[in-house]
Amino acid sequence: MRPFASRRLTNSVLTVAGVAGITAWTVWQENKLGRADFHTGYVLIGAVLFLACYNLRKKLPVLPWTTSSAWLQAHIYIGLASAVVFGLHVGWKVPNGFLEISIAVLYCLAFVSGIVGLIWTRTLPPQLARLSEEIIFERTAMIRAQLRDRAQRVVLESVHASGATTLGEFYAERLQEYFERPRRLGYYLWPTNSLRRELLAELTAVRRYLSDPEQEKCEQLFALVRRRDDLDFQVALQWRLKGWLFVHLGLTYPLVLASCLHGWLAHLFDGGAL
Ligand code: HEM
Repeated sequence: MRPFASRRLTNSVLTVAGVAGITAWTVWQENKLGRADFHTGYVLIGAVLFLACYNLRKKLPVLPWTTSSAWLQAHIYIGLASAVVFGLHVGWKVPNGFLEISIAVLYCLAFVSGIVGLIWTRTLPPQLARLSEEIIFERTAMIRAQLRDRAQRVVLESVHASGATTLGEFYAERLQEYFERPRRLGYYLWPTNSLRRELLAELTAVRRYLSDPEQEKCEQLFALVRRRDDLDFQVALQWRLKGWLFVHLGLTYPLVLASCLHGWLAHLFDGGAL
């Protein structure tokens, strides 16, 4: 078995065994009319604190305990297992009370964003690698402006060389906005190549009416439309890769604070056993 597959198997077996142990213990406690809520609460808060510590680990890579990839593995498996502990802790019901509902919402969003992030960090980098050129996120505005200027120059040259305005009119009508404006928010959430296909099809239709000098410029416009779409696609994927982590981390600290407050209040209302 490959080391990667065997590591995944070992981690999965350990996680399932841990979760099964905690579940069996909780059921046993409840069957003998004991209380498991404080215990599952401590396990859950311990898991959430451990998961939150991953941020510290990333900021301080000199911390002695284990490698970065082992931290990530532990983060993923403890993150997954924490969902069962969360379910046991709330009794698989929607909790009551403002603080409890807020914690449940924060936890569920952190969990779901973790799963989404895990999928994206595995699937988006290969898609980015397949694109023809790799672009540094911070330089995209500059490259967009360069593509827009080149497209305008190509159209002006075409009008000067041929004296015909067909390509110029098509540019003003269909391509000017494409080259000048960033894509809408919907595109960043769900990037598709439908606009690219639409514009290329329209440009192909227009090409039939162009003279030879215009056709040459039209070929350059084809290439610029494709490059601009590749750029937007790449920005959208990079935006996802940065954005999900921002959301995931943004949920972590309110979750930690609200969970600690909830634990403290639970002890207070349980007879001041703090
Ligand atoms: C539910 C409670 C969770 C909390 C409080 C939490 C917290 C965190 C924190 C603090 C980071 C570090 C962010 C940074 O500094 O850049 C992180 C990263 C990450 N988390 Fe979670 N997480 C949770 C659940 C999950 C789950 C369930 C998964 C997936 C199964 C997951 C997958 C990841 C991944 C893939 C990273 C980023 C790895 C990287 O690119 O370095 N998390 N999480």
